[in-house]
Amino acid sequence: MTAVVFAAFDELALAERLAERLGAIAGVIESRRFPDEETYLRLLTPVADRDVIFVGSLDRPDPKLARLVFLAEAARDLGARRVGLVAPYLAYLRQDARFKPGEAVTARSFARIVSSAFDWLVTVDPHLHRYASLAEVYSIPTAVLHAAPLAAQWIAQHVAEPLVVGPDRESEQWVAEVARAAGVPYVVFEKVRVADMRVDLRAPDLAPWRSCQPALVDDVVSSGGTMIEALGLLARAGLQAGTCVAVHALFAGDAHERLRAAGAREVATSDTIPHPSNRFSVLALLADGVRSASAFGMRAR
Ligand code: R5P
Repeated sequence: MTAVVFAAFDELALAERLAERLGAIAGVIESRRFPDEETYLRLLTPVADRDVIFVGSLDRPDPKLARLVFLAEAARDLGARRVGLVAPYLAYLRQDARFKPGEAVTARSFARIVSSAFDWLVTVDPHLHRYASLAEVYSIPTAVLHAAPLAAQWIAQHVAEPLVVGPDRESEQWVAEVARAAGVPYVVFEKVRVADMRVDLRAPDLAPWRSCQPALVDDVVSSGGTMIEALGLLARAGLQAGTCVAVHALFAGDAHERLRAAGAREVATSDTIPHPSNRFSVLALLADGVRSASAFGMRAR
């Protein structure tokens, strides 16, 4: 039976385009708020005996979590065969350890909740830091997709004589891959986070790269502090204005505006999180990821 793809939140166009690519049905959800702010949900598209896929980015996750779990449970209750989640951005990987006594390890809790609601998960470049893979915390099968080739292609097409710059050691996994795919050089800075919004960066000798256009690459821009500091460092070293490229356009508060004001030549992100800076699309990647989820017992059609 043909699978049904629902937009879990408001990414209707993404769900429709994904359904189209998969030859699946684009499902419709009726939803509203009760006066006391509880959520009413109704799956208008029949799901009995079908594979069901919910699509939705998990940025700003707290108000989304209850809806996500209710939707998955409703689909299961209505007879869905398997219930999968396509989360182009996966939240709650930051607090992946207990640094101070009493802290909640939210990465583990969030993973447990999602794993109990869904049969499988497809996501793009999760922010893995101390975990080697999602399997350390997710008990369901997961497919991790990588946007580096898309970022590399965008850089190759839009940045003249690029030098790919990673603002910290963590970014090296993306930066090295982007630079390799684009066939250009890269450097990586050293970062110390001083506070949520402040970081200190140290750069290697940048003199040999003065003729290049820096393309700063990171998985996520959140407060923007890392990219802003990196732009300043490049400017002080006498390099041209940098272009900021990220997979996930989180942009807390006015981070995007502050990044532009800090002198970014351009800010380019993938569409894992809808944002005006989106310049390259992960749609085809997601469709491939869902197809590979057939290995988890899911049929796209
Ligand atoms: C570091 O762990 C990440 O790769 C990013 O550099 C970081 O999350 C960006 O955060 P912000 O924009 O708040 O500096």
